[in-house]
Amino acid sequence: MLSAKLESALNNQMNSELYSANLYLSISAYFESENLRGFAHWMRIQHQEEISHAMRLFTYINDRNGRAVVQAIDQPPVEFESVQAAMDMVLEQEKRVTGMIEDLYREAQSHKDYATHVLLEWFIQEQVEEEKSAIEIIEDLKLIGGDGTGLLILDARMAERSGD
Ligand code: FEO
Repeated sequence: MLSAKLESALNNQMNSELYSANLYLSISAYFESENLRGFAHWMRIQHQEEISHAMRLFTYINDRNGRAVVQAIDQPPVEFESVQAAMDMVLEQEKRVTGMIEDLYREAQSHKDYATHVLLEWFIQEQVEEEKSAIEIIEDLKLIGGDGTGLLILDARMAERSGD
C-alpha cells in the first residue's frame, strides 16, 4: 500500500503530466497558426505521450490501493514569442518534470517502497529521451537561425514523427 505522502506526490506528478499535455497542445495550436504543420504534428504526438504518462500514474496509484485524484490543471500560455521560445518552454517543462521525478524517487527510497522505485525508473529513463529530443530541436533551430528554407526543411522532418 502507498504511504499517504507518496500517494499525494504521485497525484501531483499526474497533474504535472496533464499540465505538460495541455501546454504541448497549446504550443501545437501556435505552430499551426504559424503554418508549421510538422511542428504542430510533433507537439500533438507529444501531447498524447504526456496523457499516457498521466494514465500510467493513474493506473499505478489505483493498483496500489490508493486513489487517483483528478485535480485542476493550470492554464498554459497561449501566445509564444517565437518558435525558439516555444521550444525553450518545452525544455524548461521537461527539466521541471525531471526534477519532480527525482524528488519522488528519493521519497520512495525513504519509504523503502520498491514497487514505486521500479515505476519511477521507467520515468527517469523516459525523461532522458524527453529532454534529448527537445534539445535536438532547439539546437537545429539555432543552426537554422532566421533562414525560412531551413525552417521548412526542419518542419518537414518534424512531420515524419509517428506515435510512440
Ligand atoms: Fe511526461 Fe514529457 O514528461
